Amino acid sequence: MAQKGTATLNLGKGGESIELPILSGTMGPDVVDIRTLHAKSGMFTYDPGYLSTASSRSEITFINGAKGVLLYRGYPIEQLASQCDFTEVCFLLMNGELPSVDQKLAFDNAIKGHSMLHEQLVKFYTGFRRDAHPMAVMVGVVGALSAFYHEAMDISDASHRELSALRLIAKLPTIAAMAYKYSIGQPFVYPCNDLSYSENFLRMMFAVPTEEYTPNPVIVRALDRILILHADHEQNASTSTVRLAGSSGANPFACISAGIACLWGPAHGGANEACLNMLEEIGDVSRIDEYIERAKDKDDSYRLMGFGHRVYKNFDPRANLMRETCHEVLNELGLQNDPLFKLALELERIALEDEYFISKKLYPNVDYYSGIVQRALGIPTIMFTAIFAMARTVGWVAQWSEMISDPEYRIGRPRQLYTGATLRDVPSDR
Ligand code: ACO
Repeated sequence: MAQKGTATLNLGKGGESIELPILSGTMGPDVVDIRTLHAKSGMFTYDPGYLSTASSRSEITFINGAKGVLLYRGYPIEQLASQCDFTEVCFLLMNGELPSVDQKLAFDNAIKGHSMLHEQLVKFYTGFRRDAHPMAVMVGVVGALSAFYHEAMDISDASHRELSALRLIAKLPTIAAMAYKYSIGQPFVYPCNDLSYSENFLRMMFAVPTEEYTPNPVIVRALDRILILHADHEQNASTSTVRLAGSSGANPFACISAGIACLWGPAHGGANEACLNMLEEIGDVSRIDEYIERAKDKDDSYRLMGFGHRVYKNFDPRANLMRETCHEVLNELGLQNDPLFKLALELERIALEDEYFISKKLYPNVDYYSGIVQRALGIPTIMFTAIFAMARTVGWVAQWSEMISDPEYRIGRPRQLYTGATLRDVPSDR
């Protein structure tokens, strides 16, 4: 982070102005460092939704929304998605470099060593209703991990942070699969150390005591790709939630639970579930125009799910990769004529030619196709966001750990523009 000149801010009070440093990262826009603004001027900045605010510095993920670029630790997502598996990407996000063969083996073994849940935690599931949304269960169970791993943990110790990260990455598939098994009344399937991360998750989802489950390699590869594409996305809403919760020094398992809660919303990770529900509701190509008109209507709050992104204003590189995977999976499974996939392609085509979507730079995001892929893999719609949470956990823990080890880190405490009542007295006659 280098200083690159100063910006002069005219305060409008009789020509008074102040100088603020301009900082440059290694790529991306420069930032005006406003940390001294309040001390120098008594003013705050106003930026609801952080449209122009860099909340932190980070070395993990880089996005260029205009060019459709996504890099994890400098590597393009396209190369990682085609040349690496998910645990290699986890190692990269956490440690900054791709693992050697030995490091990969040791990392995979470390994850396998933490994939089981404490039996007391397994009993926790029975406290939930069977029809509870898996994300509600995930928020509860992941938060409850803090009750199991708190006393001996010192978050200022890098090795303790790494252990928490490994536990979270290892246990999330078990927690998510158990949420599913509980919802359908089947016995829990415990993790198996002979299998890869994605194979293991699929087995925990679909094996039953009476029948073994042999994962199809195309399906395993597709799931791995979904996990890689969702692993991190710099300072998105759920990651910022984890950072803000963690900035008080809170227990990391509780912080990740906060991230899961944020991810659940339909404007964020809930979009893939909402997108599939939308395609099912549209039902037929003949009804696309009706839904496009609704999405364009200023008086209707309806939006096309899986379209638009705060950062990508040209294309989402993850959506291109997901569309490719969608073709592969549907071909492998003989579902080329899947009506929902055809509907999705046609809706995308029509929207991309529509002036409203063009002028507002609304393109399909990663979740537009990930729902169709997951449905083809046999994953029920209600589990889509839980799988997103499983993938994003590595991003959350990497960002949390980076924040804690940053000497500039302070508790997150935004300020406000107060617009409420001015000072007044409680009426004496009430
Ligand atoms: N359908 C129709 N219109 C839309 C859509 C959409 N999907 N998305 C944005 N717009 C319109 C808005 O109505 C707004 O119009 P206006 O300028 O006339 O008011 C304009 O485009 C800008 O929208 P904002 O909500 O201000 O954009 P923002 O960057 O804040 O929101 C978001 C981005 C939340 C992703 C939004 O595009 C959206 O709600 N999309 C649908 C949900 C979705 O797919 N979310 C997944 C995000 S990706 C992820 O989490 C992995």
